[in-house]
Amino acid sequence: MRWKNSVVRSFDQKSAAYDRNCSVQQAIAQSLAVDLPASGGGIDILEIGCGTGNLTAHLFHLYVGCHLHITDVSPAMVACAKAKFSGVEARWSVMDGENPDGSETYDLIVANMAFQWFEDIGAAVERLSFMLKPNGSLFYSMPGNESFSEWKQVLNDLSLPIGILDFPTSSDIYREETITHHYKDAVDFLRSMKNIGAGTARKDYTPLTHSEMKQACAALDQNHGGKTTWHVLYGRVDR
Ligand SMILES: C[S@@+](CC[C@H](N)C(=O)[O-])C[C@H]1O[C@@H](n2cnc3c(N)ncnc32)[C@H](O)[C@@H]1O
Repeated sequence: MRWKNSVVRSFDQKSAAYDRNCSVQQAIAQSLAVDLPASGGGIDILEIGCGTGNLTAHLFHLYVGCHLHITDVSPAMVACAKAKFSGVEARWSVMDGENPDGSETYDLIVANMAFQWFEDIGAAVERLSFMLKPNGSLFYSMPGNESFSEWKQVLNDLSLPIGILDFPTSSDIYREETITHHYKDAVDFLRSMKNIGAGTARKDYTPLTHSEMKQACAALDQNHGGKTTWHVLYGRVDR
């Protein structure tokens, strides 16, 4: 619970800075939106982890006349997205997507780059699958374990601890993608991660000291510049 509270706090604090730092998440939202099923209207849709609304914008465009329930565990993120789409009809809720109350069912459940913050992704996906109506589908994207390989390599070479979360894989993955993003340098990469609220480290992590951090940043700059790999997994469950 303490770890989850720090995840929420971190996203809450960065909701205002998120849009200036989320070009990768935006590209992934676009890619996920292309895979979503068409609908003639009237269906019930749940979005989990809406953030400031990168995927939400596509949902409003694709699902005119449908019932959208847009949620995030961070109250500030929900407020931010809600303000952005103030003229459009939708239900907005603060909700922990891995612990929904399960009383409602949906034709479509979607989440862009949010499930990596779940404490047990497998159990959560199973729970969410039970919230699908017959013929309903769950679509999600999340980082894969080859993400940030440059930073992990540098820390490994220096025998320093890695704070990045373990991103589990699952049998629901139907597509993988590698995106190479060029940050200005190591500091820009780390600052960007913080500025999207992704600064919470894995539970067992001991933070680097100031001099270890300086050493790791210098090695990243020297070996890779700001080049960073995002490995993205796209998952789907059909009922
Ligand atoms: C990297 S952001 C992605 C936001 C947005 N979907 C996008 O495409 O830009 C991750 C989002 O997941 C939310 N999140 C983290 N843990 C969550 C949970 N347990 N339930 C629901 N949302 C969660 C965060 O608050 C944050 O808004």
